[in-house]
Parts: sequence; C-alpha cells; structure tokens
Amino acid sequence: MVKICCIGAGYVGGPTMAVIALKCPKVQVVVVDISTPRITAWNSDQLPIYEPGLDDVVKQCKGKNLFFSTDVEKHVAEADIVFVSVNTPTKTQGLGAGKAADLTYWESAARMIADVSKSDKIVVEKSTVPVKTAEAIERILTHNNKGINFQILSNPEFLAEGTAIKDLFNPDRVLIGGRETSGGQKAIAALRDVYAQWVPIDKIICTNLWSAELSKLAANAFLAQRISSVNAMSALCEATGADVTQVSQAIGKDTRIGPKFLNASVGFGGSCFQKDILNLVYICECHGLAEVANYWKQVIKINDYQKTRFVNRIVSSMFNTVSGKKVAILGFAFKKDTGDTRETPAIDVCKGLIGDKAKISIYDPQVQEEQITRDLALKKFDWDHPVHLQPMSPTSVKQVACVWDAYEATKGAHGICILTEWDEFKLLDYKRIFDGMEKPAFVFDGRNVVDAEKLRKIGFIVYAIGKPL
Ligand code: NAD
Ligand code: UGA
Repeated sequence: MVKICCIGAGYVGGPTMAVIALKCPKVQVVVVDISTPRITAWNSDQLPIYEPGLDDVVKQCKGKNLFFSTDVEKHVAEADIVFVSVNTPTKTQGLGAGKAADLTYWESAARMIADVSKSDKIVVEKSTVPVKTAEAIERILTHNNKGINFQILSNPEFLAEGTAIKDLFNPDRVLIGGRETSGGQKAIAALRDVYAQWVPIDKIICTNLWSAELSKLAANAFLAQRISSVNAMSALCEATGADVTQVSQAIGKDTRIGPKFLNASVGFGGSCFQKDILNLVYICECHGLAEVANYWKQVIKINDYQKTRFVNRIVSSMFNTVSGKKVAILGFAFKKDTGDTRETPAIDVCKGLIGDKAKISIYDPQVQEEQITRDLALKKFDWDHPVHLQPMSPTSVKQVACVWDAYEATKGAHGICILTEWDEFKLLDYKRIFDGMEKPAFVFDGRNVVDAEKLRKIGFIVYAIGKPL
C-alpha cells in the first residue's frame, strides 16, 4: 500500500488529501499538522473549514484510509510520498518584507523531513512557493547525507475556495514538475499514477521543476489581472454611463477573451492573489527586471484603488460624513461559500468606515464574531503571523457590532454595503429592510448582486459597482 503523508491540514491539505483518499482506496493518507485544535476539528464532526461537499468526502474515508494526526514525525517517517502544504505568507520583517514569501514554515518542515527519514521519499511541493524553491529544499533534505534518496516534485494546487471539491474532482489540469533525470521522471510517474485514478491522463501536465513552480504564480497573476482589468473598467463605466456587466458580457463573447472571471467587484481578496503577485514582483526585482515587476505591481495598485474608491463613494454619497451613522455590512468572507476572511476586501472597507467614525454592524452567514474582531485588529500582512495580534482600540470596539441576521444588521442603519456575493442577499425582503432604516436609505452593492432598479422603486438610493447611478 502506498503511504502518503501531507504536512499542513489547511484549506489545501485537508480537502486535497480527502479527495486523494476517496479516489484511491488503496492509498493510505495521513494529514498531519502542528496545530492541535485543527487536527482535533478534522477528527470531529465540525470540520475546521467550511467547503461545500467536503463533509461528505471526509465522512466516506475518515478512519478507513484517511487519518488526521499531530504525530508529524512518525507519519512523515513512514510515508513514501510527503506532500508539503504549509502556509507561505508574505514576509513582514527583514529582507523583502511586504513582498517576498516567508518560507519559515516550509524550511522547518523540510528540515524535519530530513531528520526523521529512514527510507527514500518523494517530497511534493503543494504550497505555492517562489520559483527555484525546490533547489533550496533539495539542499536542506540532503544536508546530512544519510544515503536516502529524496526526489522533489512541484505539484501546485489550483483549487478555488468555495468550489474546492468540484475543482479537485474535475480539475482543468494537474501540473507535476520534476527533475529531468531518470530518478526525477520515475517520481513524476509515481505521482501521476495517483492522480490518474480519477483525472484523465491528458489533463496531467508534466514539466520541469521551474516551469511548474512559476506556472502557479503566473496563473494567479493572470487571474488577478483579469479582475483588476475589469475593475479598472468599472471606474470608467461609472464616469461615462456605460454598464460594466454589459461590457463584460460583450467582451467575454470573444472566444479569445472568454466569459469567466470578468465580474467587477469591490476588489479581490483571499489568501493568495495578493501574496503571490507580491512574491512575483519580488522575484522580478531580484532578477533586475524592474519593468516586469512594475507591470504586475499595478494589479495590486488597482485592487487597492478599487477598495478605496468604494469607501470614498460611501462617504461622499452620505453627505461627506458617516460619523456616528450606522452602516450595515452584509458579507465579510472574501467570496461566497467560504468562511475564509483572509485578505477579504471587507477588512479594508470596514477599516475605512471606522476611520471615518461610522458605527458598523456586520452580518456574514459563515464568519464568526471572534474572527471579524481579530481581522479588524490586525495590521496588513499580519494575519498569518499570529504573534502580531494587537488589541483593537477601545473606540474601534465600540464602533463594531457583529450580528447573526441581515435584518438585525440593517435595523436603524443609514446605509448597507454588500461585500460578499452570498446568494441569500438576493432573497432578502428589501421592503422590510427599507422600512426599518433611517432615510434616505442607501445601498452600496460591492458585488452587483441585488436588482438595483427594484431597490430604487422601493425608495433606496443605490450605488452598484460600474453601473450608471
Ligand atoms: P493554511 O494556513 O490553511 O494551512 C497551512 C497549515 O500548515 C496550517 O494548519 C499550519 O498549522 C500548518 N503548518 C505550518 N507549518 C507546519 C509544520 N512545520 N508542520 C506541520 N504543519 C505545519 O494554508 P492553505 O490555505 O492551506 O495554503 C497552503 C499553501 O497552499 C499556501 O502556500 C497557499 O499559497 C497554497 N494554496 C492555497 C490555496 C487556497 O485556496 N487556500 C489554493 C492553492 C494554493
Ligand atoms: C484563487 C484561484 O482562483 C485558484 O485557482 C488558486 O488555486 C487560489 O486562488 C490560490 O492559489 O489560493 P480563490 O482565491 O480561492 O482561488 O478564489 P477565486 O474564485 O479566485 O476568487 C478570488 C477573489 O477574486 C475573490 O475575492 C472573488 O470574489 C474575486 N473575484 C473573482 C472577483 O472580484 N471577480 C471575478 O470575476 C472573480
């Protein structure tokens, strides 16, 4: 029986390994993590992450060929294939701070693998890492020269949160990069055999290590660039009377452009787009490619501009001040169907409104109050470095309320901001909401989810991204 161990039981490690276990009943999969609460949650009925379809997959294989454990060293030592799916956040201090990837967690995992291994292993980079990381990892793994053969593969993950199980069941492609030696090719074949249990062979792309590592950063950069492009257009739409939805539809019909990922929004969020582009920028700078670095930097700049523009629009529409006014925030997660709030645009919008002395009342169907309070108390880039948690100032604490119902959030509010495209926000009784609000009642739709015309008929003043006012 092939034994797989995955280091890191997070948003990638958990779902990916659960799907491997489901699709490969003859493979034993153990997911390990240094976080005891995370492993305890995986071993309970209340999984640590919300992801449609995940519960069902985990239920089918947990205890059979899928296990979760904190005994990291034991399971790494026993494995034939070790996936490393630890977090690789943006560095907050030292060389490259604010841009470069922090590989502390990766390096400590690699050192541990080197120390505990007694048999040959394939070590798979699942985390998103800077191009050439495999070279450094190879050196760490072989530093104490115990005569063990380590083959390093790059197998980046392309799943998106909210659709992780669907994406894993039916991926657009699986990418495997390895050394162009016979050992490297043998390792590629072994991993390809695992995926080939359910992924058509023509969808499994094999490349050299550096192409695989760079393709992951490139894919996220291209995806984020599309959103910044459409968001840049949304500002021009508002200035000219064009409608960004109509523009997206018109350009998306061109088969060379395609219809996906053209939804204008308050800005992209999530744990990876910003960090991976900053990482790409840093790598370009390190290679003396200043123009290339500046090109990709613009994607982030437009994203920041979009969030600021949204806050400015709220404040200017509400007679240039939101001081003391209640503003309801509907949606805090960075997209629908996830409870993940990492780099969510809601953090910047809420901080902007708090800075202008608004009283905000937040409702999200999947995000707990504790998480929101924590997010609003952290500085930029600090969310994956828990030691930097600052208590929120007493004034800010008074300005924020988290409630468990959209009607409660909007009661007595002057304005509503829709920041996540949860389906339930389309189905709310907006007449009831309007009746309970201060007048004039504003709606700022950062996701273009509500029918603006219908809301205007009720009496709301509606601002929707990239739409005529
Ligand atoms: P995460 O923070 O949810 O999970 C990482 C886990 O690794 C944590 O539970 C942490 O405790 C654990 N960990 C850290 N160091 C460890 C060590 N030395 N030993 C054992 N466990 C350790 O992160 P994630 O969202 O799963 O992302 C992981 C990687 O995958 C990142 O590089 C990310 O860029 C990439 N990625 C993420 C997504 C996504 O949708 N979240 C998609 C594709 C790729
Ligand atoms: C993204 C990529 O889509 C995955 O392929 C990749 O594996 C992953 O990053 C990663 O490396 O972490 P994810 O961040 O989970 O996945 O979600 P997306 O669906 O890409 O959405 C990212 C952000 O862009 C969200 O805030 C979303 O609301 C926003 N978005 C997306 C838009 O504003 N407009 C769109 O048209 C699409």
